[in-house]
Amino acid sequence: MTSLTDVAKRAEVSIATVSRVINNSDKVVPETRRIVEKAMEELGYHPNRVARRLRQRGGKRHLLGLIIPDIQNPFFAELSRGVEDVAYANQFAVMLCNSDENLKKEKFYLDVLRSESVDGIILPPIHERDPVVYKLIEDGIPVVTVDRSLSQCTTDKVEVDNRRGAHEAVEHLIKLGHRRIGLIAGRLNVSTSRDRKQGFLDALAAHKLSASEAYVRGGDFKQASGRAMADQLLDLPEPPTAIFVLNNLMTVGALEAIHRRKLRIPADIAVIGFDDLPWAEALDPPLTVVRQPAYEVGQAAADLLLKRLQEPKRAATHLLLLPKLIIRNSC
Ligand code: RIB
Repeated sequence: MTSLTDVAKRAEVSIATVSRVINNSDKVVPETRRIVEKAMEELGYHPNRVARRLRQRGGKRHLLGLIIPDIQNPFFAELSRGVEDVAYANQFAVMLCNSDENLKKEKFYLDVLRSESVDGIILPPIHERDPVVYKLIEDGIPVVTVDRSLSQCTTDKVEVDNRRGAHEAVEHLIKLGHRRIGLIAGRLNVSTSRDRKQGFLDALAAHKLSASEAYVRGGDFKQASGRAMADQLLDLPEPPTAIFVLNNLMTVGALEAIHRRKLRIPADIAVIGFDDLPWAEALDPPLTVVRQPAYEVGQAAADLLLKRLQEPKRAATHLLLLPKLIIRNSC
């Protein structure tokens, strides 16, 4: 069956332009309209007329878009569950997309969501100056950002106090007597990683401990980078006695590196990971983590978006939820 994407390719325009032609937008110049309509005719494409009529009546589609950076990350799975539970309870469906932390893929899915005329979109920006998200907001699409901040942006947002959670975790390690603490961070153009690193530095400074750059390594939030960065830290002449890892998948990678070296946790190396994991209790020893209220972030974001749809002019709301240090036996 011919799709919107086929028409866009044939007419050599974006999906969003095809959608504007279907919705009779006045933003389409006559020549472009002619080219797109010719492509539709040649391909035998017939837009969903029911959906179009509903849109033209200004009706809500009762459809939300949700784009997450990594569909394999349990944190985003839990956040998505929170969004979907609130949406479904209010008779809204959710279109879930995975951007793979990739701006091009994020734009592709945003174009698809716009062509489907979703009523609003929830997403973590891929980084703090994500141009695709700025454009969405500029075009007046209702957006709620979650988890990560978008610089200089006043849209509704739901975040977690990452700096506080990291400070508490490192404070705990220091109180246990650790002085050489390694850090495995994510990409520092992402606010969550940057704020967690700052919490790490705050805790060291509060105890007048130096933050040697040798003990700070940068990953990319994925498991392999956690393993590679842990190997680098453990190969140091004076390895750290504790490692603080700034997200769940990198923590799993770090644990892989530690176990391959047959190091004992916590006797040889203590570990705290940011983000709880469904299987953290089942690890040997059970993992100490900074738990993010991922489900509640999703719930709150969906709630804010539905409120925005009801009251388009309401003031922007910024929610900051608290993480919790869950002390188990890995430190
Ligand atoms: O594992 C997911 C968490 O780590 C999220 O907060 C995401 O932003 C990354 O920082």
